[in-house]
Amino acid sequence: MSKSAVNRIGILTSGGDAPGMNAAIRSAVRTASGLGIECVGILRGYNGLMTGDFIKLGEEEVKGITGRGGTMLFTARSQEFMTDEGFQRAVNTCKFMGIDGLITIGGDGTFQGALKLSKAGVKVVGVPCTIDNDIGCTTYTIGFDTACNTAIEAVDKLSDTMQSHERCSVVEVMGRRSGHLALNVGIATGATITMIPEFPVNFEKDVIDRIRSARIAGRTHFTIIVAEGIEPVNDIAHKINETTGIETRVTTIGHIQRGGAPLVRDRVTASLMGNRAVMLLAAGEDGSVVVMDGDQCTDLDIEAALRMKKALDPDAYHLLSALTS
Ligand code: F6P
Repeated sequence: MSKSAVNRIGILTSGGDAPGMNAAIRSAVRTASGLGIECVGILRGYNGLMTGDFIKLGEEEVKGITGRGGTMLFTARSQEFMTDEGFQRAVNTCKFMGIDGLITIGGDGTFQGALKLSKAGVKVVGVPCTIDNDIGCTTYTIGFDTACNTAIEAVDKLSDTMQSHERCSVVEVMGRRSGHLALNVGIATGATITMIPEFPVNFEKDVIDRIRSARIAGRTHFTIIVAEGIEPVNDIAHKINETTGIETRVTTIGHIQRGGAPLVRDRVTASLMGNRAVMLLAAGEDGSVVVMDGDQCTDLDIEAALRMKKALDPDAYHLLSALTS
């Protein structure tokens, strides 16, 4: 007989996948198993919660998945769950299937869904997992480091060929509406310019003049990192080409950033968070999110957590120009 406040935990991954989701699932399942709590995997995020699309999730099912990218539970962004009818179906499924605790792994949208479920009486704990690192309540989201490294590797490779041809490379990275990914990639690759939504640029002064002065200083190739959604990268490349005469090429790194084996930071963070999520539910906690406060894995009330905004570090942004010749 388990001494836990819950007997059956449902686990789902929702929103964009991120490297480390599998590690979080494995950690949660193994922790639960150690406490005598049963786990079920809910497939395709909130869609599976509405349709009752569940799988058994025991020690055997999660064997060897820590290093695997993607999510073994599949993921989706569910429009239907946002409707009153869809939401009610999800709540009913939880009752019908005897789910007395739910772990939702994903980004901001996933947390919004978790809050709604918590208000409807479902015991829920959120685990932040998105390559965007844009969730206000946590200093770190699972997947960010691996995605940054994937983008950095691509930019380094581009830099080699741009150097050979003395070209300019305009590279679009992901990030939804935030510039955390682009900023880190810009700093780590020594980009000529990094364009992020939090700090709008004056194109003539901040892009064209910067390329010109870098050229005068002796640079022969240039890298412009652009956070998605700022301006079409083809337009940016065209303007650079026209104004400076430098042959310019465009690369959109895209979904490659979401895949791949998670790096150590994501494996470890996911393992800490998956464990804590189960411990919270077992202790009778409800309506929480697991967060990183610096290096510390802790938790917050989900409603308060969702009100928190994450500012981009202005010092890191100013470092970009300080490091550009
Ligand atoms: O939130 C993760 C993310 O990869 C964002 O960076 C990007 O804007 C979005 O998801 C892309 O979503 P989709 O996979 O639906 O194209």
